[in-house]
Amino acid sequence: MRETQRVDRILSNFGFGTRREIKQLVKNGEVKVDGEVIKDSGMHVDPKTSKIEISGQVLNYRQFIYVMMNKPAGVISATFDNRHETVVDILPEEYKCFDPFPVGRLDIDTEGLLLMTNDGQLAHELLSPRKHVPKKYFAYIEGEVSAGDVKMFEEGILLDDGYKTLPAELHILEQGESSSVEVIIFEGKFHQVKRMFEAVGKKVKYLKRITMGNLVLDEALATGECRELTENELTGLINAVRTENDSNLN
Ligand code: URA
Repeated sequence: MRETQRVDRILSNFGFGTRREIKQLVKNGEVKVDGEVIKDSGMHVDPKTSKIEISGQVLNYRQFIYVMMNKPAGVISATFDNRHETVVDILPEEYKCFDPFPVGRLDIDTEGLLLMTNDGQLAHELLSPRKHVPKKYFAYIEGEVSAGDVKMFEEGILLDDGYKTLPAELHILEQGESSSVEVIIFEGKFHQVKRMFEAVGKKVKYLKRITMGNLVLDEALATGECRELTENELTGLINAVRTENDSNLN
């Protein structure tokens, strides 16, 4: 099915300027559709099938955007906030015009993998408590994490509000007065990892998310940097959430 839109609308949605500015670019002969210079900025085109060029640059049209961010500490996982910088504020302009939002939340002091998208359906599936999407974190812990803690995580931890978590995997990487661990949880309660450690008498000093489903943080991204997912990453994520985990629905 052809879905046409005004070319000035498409280009302004993609951050090429206001409709008025685009009208001027069209007037100057800077906009081509399927190789032909266009004269009318109100012309209707289907951006999925037509090649749109602006000042010699081909428009990379996509309806949805999927961005992996290595979230830095100090910014909040929201689209807007009066007091703090948000993960949307620190996105490059080329992504902002898609109106992406963070898929779930990381605390202000948590770093690491944050998926940002405007695909509400995929976000909903990834966050659905029925899907049990695994999330792996690396953490520095104040206190000696023990084999007993591993066992307690395996059995599920009773949190301060009386909620018992699903079984979680705890792997000790370094053990001592402070420890480093990896923990995998299958849900996303408020401050969950911190509260799980508090429940066993320990404190999370540093927390970084490494994976969500089968999406792995690209370690080449410095904190604050981001990039779009590759085709493989996206299909992997979609397949995992729409197939295997569907058998866990209850
Ligand atoms: N658990 C937490 O305690 N904080 C996060 O940011 C993510 C998981």
